[in-house]
Amino acid sequence: LKNFGILGIGTYVPEKIMTNSDLEKIVDTSDAWIQKMTGIKERRIAAENEATSDLAYNAAVKALESSNTKAEEIDLIVVATLTPDYFTPSVSAMLQKRLGAHHAAAFDLGAACSGFVYGLEAGGNFIATGMYKKVLVIGAEVFSRILDWEDRNTCVLFGDGAAAAVLGEVEEGYGLIGSHLGADGDLDDVLIIPAGGSRTPATHETIDNRSHYLKMKGQEVFKFAVKAMPGAVEKVLENTGIGIDELELIVPHQANMRIISSAAKKLGFPAEKFVLNLDRYGNTSAASVGLALGEALEKGMIKKGDNIALVGFGAGLTYASCVMKW
Ligand code: ACO
Repeated sequence: LKNFGILGIGTYVPEKIMTNSDLEKIVDTSDAWIQKMTGIKERRIAAENEATSDLAYNAAVKALESSNTKAEEIDLIVVATLTPDYFTPSVSAMLQKRLGAHHAAAFDLGAACSGFVYGLEAGGNFIATGMYKKVLVIGAEVFSRILDWEDRNTCVLFGDGAAAAVLGEVEEGYGLIGSHLGADGDLDDVLIIPAGGSRTPATHETIDNRSHYLKMKGQEVFKFAVKAMPGAVEKVLENTGIGIDELELIVPHQANMRIISSAAKKLGFPAEKFVLNLDRYGNTSAASVGLALGEALEKGMIKKGDNIALVGFGAGLTYASCVMKW
């Protein structure tokens, strides 16, 4: 098998900032509650004319630039999202056209907030087997469109954003060293959009009772996450034989500061070595791990030869981790 890694990253967030104080005007909540319970201060919200493929496109253009890759060189586009522009066509096929990636195969991937890490493994394996040379993996969401802005339990948590990575072959010993993907389908009902799919198609009634919006049993997700996140890191370290003290950074899914702090404690890994941006972006679902990784690179937090772990969890429920040598 060939070694694959990230050749370049691009990120994009919409311009519009929604602060916790803005939310106080919409639902019965407070800046103090949101900060204390989640660590989130503000999030980005897509403009009316922006959909997921627009955010994904902007991130993808930057990733192609930063990796010095032409769109025609891309063999495959994988877009992880749970807020696609349409059920069909896929966001990846729409991007193929817009980027001019005429030779690329294209598919979308549904693993919710674990999507970016699932995407790296899924897309990268086409390089590992020698089938493809360059793969574009994107996590992108316009979560603001599936949120119930009358439900304070969910609308304060999420934001919109996108992150893209160009994957290609790298020298031996570098790139993706190992990964661990998993799911717990017994918990398929704790994060769910009940209507609009083939089980409960759209009717006037489903619109009236707001079943097209995300419903979440927050405490159950929390309980799952505080186990799954450290568990997935431990498992990938075990698989790769890399010790936790050999990791420079962990880039976690940005859902809740308390979940990340709990994972830091359980792993015995310094909290300051977790890359954080949820204070500014909230939970951007499939984009979050890529957005945080992009920021860490921009800030010079990662040098060549560093071992870093990425870890996510999300609806499904799903979880995913990987270790990369940069
Ligand atoms: N503002 C003020 N009060 C609120 C708010 C809010 N925005 N939201 C809930 N509350 C209230 C509740 O109504 C409840 O009040 P009550 O005691 O009078 O009934 C009280 O706060 C406590 O609510 P809980 O839900 O018990 O609080 P909890 O400690 O579980 O914290 C939270 C809630 C922050 C949502 C937490 O459960 C959490 O972070 N869970 C994980 C969520 C997550 O990560 N989701 C994303 C998954 S990724 C994906 O794939 C999409």
